[in-house]
Amino acid sequence: MEHSIQIPEEVREIYLKIGRPTPLQRATRLEEYLHTPAEIYFKSEFVSSPGSHKPNTAVAQAYYNKREGIERLVTETGAGQWGSALALACALFDMRCRVYMTRSSYVQKPYRKVMMELYGAEVFSSPSKETKFGSGLLAQDPEHPGSLGIAISEALEDTVTHEGTHYSLGSVLNHVLLHQTVIGQEAKMQLERIDSYPDVVVGCIGGGSNFSGFAYPFMADKLKGKKETEFLAVEPKAVPSITKGEYKYDHGDTAGMTPLLKMYTLGHTYACPPIHAGGLRYHGKAPSLCLLANTGHVKVRAYGQTEIFKAGETFAKVEGIVPAPETAHAIKAVMDEALECKRTNEHKVIAFNFSGHGIFDLQGYADSLAGKLQDYEYKAN
Ligand SMILES: Cc1ncc(COP(=O)(O)O)c(C=O)c1O
Repeated sequence: MEHSIQIPEEVREIYLKIGRPTPLQRATRLEEYLHTPAEIYFKSEFVSSPGSHKPNTAVAQAYYNKREGIERLVTETGAGQWGSALALACALFDMRCRVYMTRSSYVQKPYRKVMMELYGAEVFSSPSKETKFGSGLLAQDPEHPGSLGIAISEALEDTVTHEGTHYSLGSVLNHVLLHQTVIGQEAKMQLERIDSYPDVVVGCIGGGSNFSGFAYPFMADKLKGKKETEFLAVEPKAVPSITKGEYKYDHGDTAGMTPLLKMYTLGHTYACPPIHAGGLRYHGKAPSLCLLANTGHVKVRAYGQTEIFKAGETFAKVEGIVPAPETAHAIKAVMDEALECKRTNEHKVIAFNFSGHGIFDLQGYADSLAGKLQDYEYKAN
């Protein structure tokens, strides 16, 4: 079995153009604000041009598809970050791109659509009239908020009904997590340079790709018995796939078109509430991450959207960077871990993945500042 796979030269060249390697920063002002003895580090995936970790896999997927002679890629997007990343990658490889964007994000973040269009992609609000599956849902509810599961079904239907087209997924699957391990590999080298190693590794989970990409290179050391690092994955209370879901075989999309995946799931027809963290509105999670959660190697915690937005506001004020609401889940957990270190007077090194910026999420922050945000409790279908 190969332990690692060389990143193709063409992909590395584009990584350089779009901000890799990304900086590893220490959140010294947050440490001071919390009066914690913990050291807090974060990997700055928000510096890529679309604003998140998503180009790491978008560029690789576009490259391999182009090499196979594919001219058009179709995908879904929840937060708009993945759609923007694939649109960018397709622009750089001269390919056509179509994106089905969950309606709740399409309404909350109109400028994400403009960004994707600037990169040359076609963007549709999902559920859409472009597919039979979407048309059926719109007939039942013209205001349907959509979900990642639904947008995946639409993208798959589009793919199988168009020649020369491949489907591209932005998370969940093994190859996506593999592409994202560039984050953790860089972080490990950067920490080595300052003779440091994390005691706690934190990330948010939608499909599981940014957390796994950051955590797995450290997890390899833990599995070999070299380190005792704790791993903490964070999901929304409104979509608690691992903390409240069942570990079983389920479809990756709402229409039930994908093969079955063994994962923690709320059921592929779960109606995800329209929280602002659109990238975390997914009923399941990556199978390898679910296995690690099932065996206790990864702990999982859930937070509500009002508390994660407060954590995001604090980070913006103290460190000067506005986090995406998805990333704010990780930040809330990091702050709680650091406060626990203060209580126990432990000097831990906490490292988290800063998966994306929240510059397109200002409506969510406006609602939070005005006290208008709503929390959603999980209700099984
Ligand atoms: C900024 C950001 N963070 C996290 C996620 C969650 O996805 P994943 O779990 O695959 O990293 C998304 C997904 O859209 C995102 O945009």
